[in-house]
Amino acid sequence: MPTLGIIGSGNIGSAIARLAVAAGMNVVIANSRGVDSLQGLVAELGPLAKAGTVEEAASLGDAVVLSIPLAAVEDLPAGLLQGKIVLDTSNYYPSRDGRIAELDNGSKTTSELVQELLGGARYVKAFGNILAHHIPLLARPSGAPDRTTLPIASDDARLKAEAAALIDLLGFDTLDAGTLADSWKFEPESAGYTRIYLADQSTPDQELMSSVPAPTPADRVKAALDSATRVNVAERAF
Ligand SMILES: NC(=O)c1ccc[n+]([C@@H]2O[C@H](COP(=O)([O-])OP(=O)(O)OC[C@H]3O[C@@H](n4cnc5c(N)ncnc54)[C@H](OP(=O)(O)O)[C@@H]3O)[C@@H](O)[C@H]2O)c1
Repeated sequence: MPTLGIIGSGNIGSAIARLAVAAGMNVVIANSRGVDSLQGLVAELGPLAKAGTVEEAASLGDAVVLSIPLAAVEDLPAGLLQGKIVLDTSNYYPSRDGRIAELDNGSKTTSELVQELLGGARYVKAFGNILAHHIPLLARPSGAPDRTTLPIASDDARLKAEAAALIDLLGFDTLDAGTLADSWKFEPESAGYTRIYLADQSTPDQELMSSVPAPTPADRVKAALDSATRVNVAERAF
């Protein structure tokens, strides 16, 4: 079993950590406040999990989940994830991250920006289009008939196969959603974003955080991606 490094122990990082230990993986999880602040979480995760520094999560992980606010990515130590498989969950929220010109003018997707900031990481965008509380509710063992599909994007086709194998262990099927330039199709406000996993598509936005998901197969995810039109990120107010 691979060891999974997880940088970011918030909503998404902790949800993926729970899947990883359930699958029998060792987990090294880090956040910004340090190892002491993670003791409760690692106690809950059990003996396969340990708290580490950001550097330890990066170096000990065979693959690393990066799940921190977009604005924090540029503060990571240079070369931290060089050569590592990175599953990046980042999304761009100007109200949290500040306005980023290359994203607002559409010259880059969020994932292209993060890949650039990370230097030589083996970069895959994944887990960025699903609400954190839907992750444990939709994860299923490999081969289960009601499995849910997550889109993944990368500029390296072979790497996508490696990421798919890892995400399979975590509990999801994957759909190749193309390159990082294509990944806007499952970024916020796009057709492939979080709403595709809702059981009730009429759920109002203000009820999303308590929403119930439904297993979502690959053909439905593909149809959503195929129907996506690019949003004008400059108009994003949240
Ligand atoms: N929440 C969702 O449903 C959802 C869905 C899809 C995608 N996303 C995206 O996924 C990313 C993570 O979201 P989240 O909801 O999990 O965020 P979150 O709950 O706010 O957690 C963020 C984590 O990042 C850590 N962090 C911040 N700066 C750091 C740094 N410089 N070094 C190491 N760790 C750092 C924080 O550490 P501390 O705990 O010490 O503060 C925290 O553990 C965001 O880009 C978000 O937009 C979220």
